[in-house]
Amino acid sequence: MTGEDEVEVFLNSVFVRVKSWLKEADGSEVHLDETPSDIRRQVRLSLPLEGEGLEGALEGIDDFLLHSVRTHHSNFMNPLWGGFSASAFAGEVISAVAQSSMYTFQLAPIATLVEQEIISRMSEIIGFSDGNGVLTTGGSNGNMLGLLCARHSHYPIGMKTGVDGRNLVMYVSAESHYSALMAANVIGIGHDNVVKVSTDEDGRMNCNRLEEEIEITLTEGKTPLCIIATSGTTVRGAFDPIAEIAEIANRNGIWLHVDAAWGGACLFSNTHAELMRGVELADSICWDAHKMMGVPLICSAFIIKNPRILRQTCNHTRAAHYLFHSNTEDLDLGHMSLQCGRRIDALKLWLAWKEKGDAGWAKLVDGYVELAEYLEKLVVDEPSLELMSTRMWANVCFRYNPSSSERNSEIDLNLLNSKLRDELSATKQFLISRSNIAEDVILRPVIANPGVSLEVLDKLVSEIVRIGDELIAAD
Ligand SMILES: Cc1ncc(COP(=O)(O)O)c(C=O)c1O
Repeated sequence: MTGEDEVEVFLNSVFVRVKSWLKEADGSEVHLDETPSDIRRQVRLSLPLEGEGLEGALEGIDDFLLHSVRTHHSNFMNPLWGGFSASAFAGEVISAVAQSSMYTFQLAPIATLVEQEIISRMSEIIGFSDGNGVLTTGGSNGNMLGLLCARHSHYPIGMKTGVDGRNLVMYVSAESHYSALMAANVIGIGHDNVVKVSTDEDGRMNCNRLEEEIEITLTEGKTPLCIIATSGTTVRGAFDPIAEIAEIANRNGIWLHVDAAWGGACLFSNTHAELMRGVELADSICWDAHKMMGVPLICSAFIIKNPRILRQTCNHTRAAHYLFHSNTEDLDLGHMSLQCGRRIDALKLWLAWKEKGDAGWAKLVDGYVELAEYLEKLVVDEPSLELMSTRMWANVCFRYNPSSSERNSEIDLNLLNSKLRDELSATKQFLISRSNIAEDVILRPVIANPGVSLEVLDKLVSEIVRIGDELIAAD
């Protein structure tokens, strides 16, 4: 066999495995619920001194798939993503084949235009008429980039002289994503200067409290730098009131960044876009296509109203003369990114968008929210389940609570629900998240997987009730 034949046979074998992996999802287990030692026992993890050829790689693929979580399984409802998109998968493969890096137009000509097309469409949807941006390594880094742009806008010379961030303050809701803290650390503000503004009973940032916190900052002689409003909080799926927050930000000269990593897709839907009312008033936004839109990780956009600030923030002087040349400066996306080498994440989103169109995204979003409404109704109608938060989006927060019976009033519900989630996971049939709202342990399935159906949700609820009842009976 020639080397070329060997590669062809290998690629065909890989594709056979991809197809069978996708087919086997239904009817099979979501995961194997293994411990690290279970996996170590079964898989030759060690790297060989002598190469094993493509046969060795094939064995590795078999092992890898066998011991991976089937995130495309219809019963997978754990994080804020799941399922399989054929067009986006093709984009992932083609990106790897057309292997390049997104810094210059010359090295990534069509990829640059594809990425810019996506960004300009997203800017238009947001309502930033002159907006621009870049794909990043995820919502966490999108939040950090927003904060960095806020810092640059406030103190541009700091890029050269360095910045003492101890007097700079940022505001997030008490239910915001933990990446806000990491961003504060990276840009030198420090965790102590992250003000967690309390939320209302539905998990939205309380605007009166925000104003009070800004007052406190000013009284302390510090500078309010940035507010991060969350559109779709991680646990409850709450949307902070952007229009009201933007008014406060504007009045006080504070940068407003919107973390729409999870909720951004609502903008496609005529019914749900209202959740982000006022987003066009923000300064920057991050929006993950790898969450609700189902594009394989990583695919995440950072979009800014005033692109000049992003270019300045990512300025690397003229140091990289071997890469960047002044005649293509406007086209080279390396001037708007914190990365040097950068994957082509745009192609998979571009292909998925070609497949679906705006109308398809809207249908996806509306369908997910309808399924979440259905699950909410199942929970409300089931006497031993308790809805733990108003549902706004595709997150449904509830717990098993049989306290109607007198005997059960003494039960430690947090312990019970933690055990219940472990037992559910051990059945290997479902994966949902366990989380907390204030002091309460809750179960939090999310709908972000095209495989989820009414029947799947019926089964999920009856499994949870069955396991809960058994735990109570065994106690
Ligand atoms: C509200 C919110 N923001 C940001 C992030 C971080 O996004 P990424 O995982 O893309 O870094 C998450 C992740 O779940 C999130 O829920």
